[in-house]
Amino acid sequence: MTDTVPEAKTTVSITVDGKPVEANSGEMIIAAAERDGTYIPRFCYHPRMRPVGMCRMCLVEVEGPRGPQLVPSCYVPVSEGQVVITDSARVKKAQDGVLEFLLVNHPLDCPVCDKGGECPLQDQTLAYGPGESRFVEEKRHWEKPISLSELVLLDRERCIQCDRCTRFADEVAGDALIEFNSRGGRTEIATFPDQPFSSYFSGNTVQICPVGALTSKPYRFKARPWDIEQVESTCTSCSVGCRVAVQSSQSQLTRYLGVDSEPVNHGWMCDKGRYDYENVNSDRRITAPLMRKNSELVEVTWNEALTAAVAALRTALDNRGTESIGVIGGARLANEDAYAWARFAKSVLGTDNVDAQLGDGLPADVVLGLPRATIDDACRASAIVLIAPDIKEELPVLYLRLRDAAVNAKIPVIEVSPMATGMTRYATASYFYEPGNASATVREVMPSHELDDAVVVFGRPSLAESATSIVDALLLLREVSGVKFLPALRRSNIMGALEMGFAPGLLPGGETLDAGHARYERAWGKVVTAPGTDTPGMLRAAANGQMETIILLGADPIRDLPDADLARRGLAGAQTVIAVQSHPTASMKDADIVVPASTYAERGGTTTNIEGRVTSLSQKLTPPGVAWDDWVIANELAYRMGADLGFSSLPSLRDEIERTVPSHAGLTARALNANRDGIVSKPAAAEFPTTRSSTTTSNDAVSPNGAVLRLVTSRKLYDQGTLVQHSPCIAGLAAAPVVLVHQHDFEQLGLVADGLAKVTSNRASLTVAVAVDHDVLPGTAWMGWNLDDANPVSELIDASGSICEVRVERA
Ligand code: SF4
Ligand code: SF4
Ligand code: FES
Repeated sequence: MTDTVPEAKTTVSITVDGKPVEANSGEMIIAAAERDGTYIPRFCYHPRMRPVGMCRMCLVEVEGPRGPQLVPSCYVPVSEGQVVITDSARVKKAQDGVLEFLLVNHPLDCPVCDKGGECPLQDQTLAYGPGESRFVEEKRHWEKPISLSELVLLDRERCIQCDRCTRFADEVAGDALIEFNSRGGRTEIATFPDQPFSSYFSGNTVQICPVGALTSKPYRFKARPWDIEQVESTCTSCSVGCRVAVQSSQSQLTRYLGVDSEPVNHGWMCDKGRYDYENVNSDRRITAPLMRKNSELVEVTWNEALTAAVAALRTALDNRGTESIGVIGGARLANEDAYAWARFAKSVLGTDNVDAQLGDGLPADVVLGLPRATIDDACRASAIVLIAPDIKEELPVLYLRLRDAAVNAKIPVIEVSPMATGMTRYATASYFYEPGNASATVREVMPSHELDDAVVVFGRPSLAESATSIVDALLLLREVSGVKFLPALRRSNIMGALEMGFAPGLLPGGETLDAGHARYERAWGKVVTAPGTDTPGMLRAAANGQMETIILLGADPIRDLPDADLARRGLAGAQTVIAVQSHPTASMKDADIVVPASTYAERGGTTTNIEGRVTSLSQKLTPPGVAWDDWVIANELAYRMGADLGFSSLPSLRDEIERTVPSHAGLTARALNANRDGIVSKPAAAEFPTTRSSTTTSNDAVSPNGAVLRLVTSRKLYDQGTLVQHSPCIAGLAAAPVVLVHQHDFEQLGLVADGLAKVTSNRASLTVAVAVDHDVLPGTAWMGWNLDDANPVSELIDASGSICEVRVERA
């Protein structure tokens, strides 16, 4: 006798067209048949959404007590012994009938329809349809196309009412902004009055619409499937790392499509990632080296630019030694580029002043040292704790995954934030804290929740609050049994850059300068030993005349550092600023030498997402003009400095990383190419600090009437950043700058609706529109990061304070 309960059988045996098939318990017939190689035509079925049985294209026969019955295979689950027939004359007749009905009102304007050539309705009509139409009457006509939003057009007469777009908007995105309207032949997809389809995920509806009813404005009439070429790659517009198909026609990017990666994006993309391909095609790209002559940046040869760059680096080394050179940026780079630059800086130049974060992240030892969770871990955790920026705005597809976990898997979400976010409506508990009080809030609320085996999603909830209090909060949570951490740092390859050594004090693989010394001395010949400083430290040194040469690797401190004044003084104080850029930036006005770099889709290599998942990037285009890959620039500079890094190609670089960096052992090009979903790397646990003290210091802006608010600033998906502003179709979606305050403060401060407010810190004063927002905590004021090109909120912030206090008054 045994007291163990037999495990429930998780598979059932069915037959499909006479073939035995092992199906997963609970799955629909259409999915089981497809996995076994039998494709059943469909329109409304989508494996990532709930079945609705709307179109009846998937009818099959299933044996029942009264003989075979026609059933929609997307709506009927498998059951033990089920007999399914997909190819009988009755099934064929049903398919004929369904298609004939669908085509009654379909306009058949395939020659001018964007979907033509890749349209499931075209394809299935050819494969399963009746061959000719009996319908001779006038078809319905609608005004076409109508605009659902800035990005999506609708040709209503093409719609076959499959409910995919509406289900996606409601079930997956949580933005139920489109719905069916009217009945019968007048049924149409519609938005609500005065409410455009302004979802951050609208492009997915275009991708999954099985006909050309929904089309993308930027893609409409741009290309046809037969003149498109495609490679599979990873989106690097943020650090989620969605898998994508990159398509081009006539040497221009034309479209990105989401590819289904089970552990990451489930096929979805956000609209920023989907539509910012226009920045690659931009005619404002930097295509040739530039040097400042008579105060103007003028075009020069690569040889002249590199000779000048090497002269500046040598002078800095001769004058003040290795500490007088700093390298800022690197998150735009692929892992291979970052490794080449890290080796150039930390071995050839001998400086540890290398930082991929611009004062907007968290200490690298914390990010790399905490026990790491994957996105799947978070979605299966006992609870999700969010101490992060608004992930809907910054890491949109991570938001989709966590929203799904909260709504469908009922995972409790506990949010600790300075204001309400996109996740607040799904949170079991939300604790809003005044900037500076994150760790105190976590300490207070931890006992109220069961947090064993939880996953903490962490980042910088506000860039006007220093990282210290957040780090303290993470240290508290690290003590909970089984807790794992998922970084929510937004910059594209920030995790890869940190892992490749783009942080002061760390070498590739996350090893400290001491721990990795022997390894990298062996591999590189020599390696830096003296710890360097981070980006604010480098800029402070430059402002004080102690840093001669700064290299910007795709970085724009003037726009991105939460202290515009420090960025300006730092860049102005350096003798030479060398900018390695693909697009013009605000910081280029201080650059002496600018060299053009290739960008996304123009280079191969690998990238690392928030989970540490390394996936491959594919090259689709040739870089414009004479732009080079970043690793080639590092290689050439090193050579001219008398050191041969020995990289002859991207594969040789990947080989060296695989051989040298312990966390990339086994991550060969072959292994990565064979794994569409990538491979999760495990950096060495850096020597993680056990304590960090946080005392709240502010820049004193207290007014006599006590009208002082603590500033909160965070990013919106669309802003004045380089990717968005060089992509015309989304550039206009950036929100207008505004300061938001609570109703109570609004009244107390005598502010007026639709009026302007003067926001003053000890650094600067900005005048912006003001509005009431109940998501903002009393005593705080919110301003969007990088929304105002002329007067950025970073002007108000002093990076040396732990919080930023502002006076808000009627302007
Ligand atoms: Fe389906 Fe497209 Fe119509 Fe939406 S617009 S219901 S996705 S056919
Ligand atoms: Fe790209 Fe990030 Fe959007 Fe995914 S969530 S499509 S990685 S920008
Ligand atoms: Fe089954 Fe539409 S695919 S009813």
